[in-house]
Amino acid sequence: MCGIIGYCGPRPAAPILIEGLRRLEYRGYDSAGIAVGRDNALTVIKRAGKISNLRGHVTPEMPGIIGIGHTRWATHGGVTDENAHPHTDGSGKIAIVHNGIIENYQPLKDRLLAEGVHFASETDSEVIAHLLAGFYRGDLEAAVKETVSLIKGTYGIVAMHSDEPGRLVGARNGSPLVLGVGEGEMFLASDVTAIIAHTRQVIYIEDGEVISVTGRDYRTTDLRDNQIVKHIDHVGWELEEIEKAGFTHFMEKEIHEQPEAIRRATTGRIDHEFATGHLGGLNLSNRELLEINRVKILAAGTSYHAAMVASYVLESIARIPTTAELASELRYRNPIVERNSLYFAISQSGETADTLYAMREVQRKGGRVLGICNVVGSTIARESDGGVYIHSGPEIAVASTKAFTSQLTAFYLFALIMGRMRDVSFEQGARFVEELESVPEKIERILADTTRIQDLARRYARYDNMLFLGRGINYPVALEAALKLKEVSYIHAEGYSAAEIKHGPIALINEETPSLFIVPDDGLRSKVINNMKEVKARQGRVIALAVEGDQEVEAIADDTLFVPRSSELMYPFLMTVPTQLFAYYCAIERGCNVDQPRNLAKSVTVE
Ligand code: M6R
Repeated sequence: MCGIIGYCGPRPAAPILIEGLRRLEYRGYDSAGIAVGRDNALTVIKRAGKISNLRGHVTPEMPGIIGIGHTRWATHGGVTDENAHPHTDGSGKIAIVHNGIIENYQPLKDRLLAEGVHFASETDSEVIAHLLAGFYRGDLEAAVKETVSLIKGTYGIVAMHSDEPGRLVGARNGSPLVLGVGEGEMFLASDVTAIIAHTRQVIYIEDGEVISVTGRDYRTTDLRDNQIVKHIDHVGWELEEIEKAGFTHFMEKEIHEQPEAIRRATTGRIDHEFATGHLGGLNLSNRELLEINRVKILAAGTSYHAAMVASYVLESIARIPTTAELASELRYRNPIVERNSLYFAISQSGETADTLYAMREVQRKGGRVLGICNVVGSTIARESDGGVYIHSGPEIAVASTKAFTSQLTAFYLFALIMGRMRDVSFEQGARFVEELESVPEKIERILADTTRIQDLARRYARYDNMLFLGRGINYPVALEAALKLKEVSYIHAEGYSAAEIKHGPIALINEETPSLFIVPDDGLRSKVINNMKEVKARQGRVIALAVEGDQEVEAIADDTLFVPRSSELMYPFLMTVPTQLFAYYCAIERGCNVDQPRNLAKSVTVE
């Protein structure tokens, strides 16, 4: 979604802002702009469409050593130059960029309109610039505090005033903001990826905090002006990790990074001596873990599919009733929070509004929520009562791939811990560890030759509809496969339990609606084969995702992809990877913008 970058220091601001905006592109956006200050005046350049539309207007020589930039993902008002950020007040002396949604903007706007203020855009954000102008009496920080006290909703804001040429002021409520501390220069951003080319020293701004920044120092206070001492965190990511490293797209790169990401997610977390896992961040004693008799996992999108797989694994090996919960639904269901239930909030970005608010609702009722996040220092990671980082490295493509398999890894380790405290024997635990540790190498085998998947994608990318069908623990894999295909290729795809198609979706089957069946050699194999035959009998084309050497399945299907043989519980890893590649190559075939699909945002920070 929207992205923010701010710069304050001795260097020309414009190129730094544009570079920062490029690093934020992956979040998804539809317009972009910058404001640069020099000689007590601001220059604002903003355009609908891609950052490249600013080219010709922004030059490296553009004067100004302070500025703010923004990528907008439209919520209030269409995709126009006027609605792009930064927004200014009537005098043009104040410029602001804003992420989030101002829920009470209409009454605020009505009041300002009644006072004769002219609005140049249809956005909720513009009220901030006009409110600031009304409150400004020579102190931007004070004006920001008065302004945000009136605002209801979520915001990450950065403001500048031409009368205070060396200062940026940021404020946060529910929308991330991070300060990058450089050598004689400072950066404000919604996301560390925008600034790690310049500095790894960061300070995460919390809700209710206001930060006032010059090139040399910063001051953080709350809305009552109490000073807050912040500590500097070090970002572990390397710059190369947010670059394509020879791959054509980030999605392709991230698919290929999965073996390494899974290894990283298990590093230091397997205790071979006791054939169990070790997740230090859970902040729960063994006694507390033993008392847990129910697990609920809050998530959205791909993370929700990971949660569904996790529920099968936890129930299967730890015998603990586990449910995956759509965070957006749970929050408004007046959830029943029981003693001895353990909650997880699982989110790649750690900023997904639906998941964050559901987590807060559970915590408010006294529930304990652990976070499983990728982005270090993200809001869910910080607000949860403990948790696990999956350490997959930055995931830049909007379509989540490596985070999914790393999330599974974290849950498999948790399931192992819980299982070993209950009925799983040492031998069973050791076998589970061995199987989990063999997953990266098996994925490497799949990735070593993708030509067959490319060939399939070339032939199937012309279809407008597709079904993905799996059973048991591979049912969520089918859901995830369908989500991936529709996200990046815009082919309409549905995931179903293979058993369910006879209850309705089979009506869709004809020669123009192919089905991809996930057919591992598990206890449900013969039933899935029957489902395949039902589709074949209705002239449906069938792609099977089967286990090496499964000639029976190969003989039924029109096309077959094979994955290495494995134990039942590990197939979600192995079956997922070919479906990711299939979606990727279909998108390429259809000429889609793979890394930034239309209308989508990487981190969905609005409800
Ligand atoms: O950052 P999160 O894991 O919380 O994101 C949740 C979803 O928004 C996300 O998985 C989304 O569905 C992706 N585009 C999937 O590829």
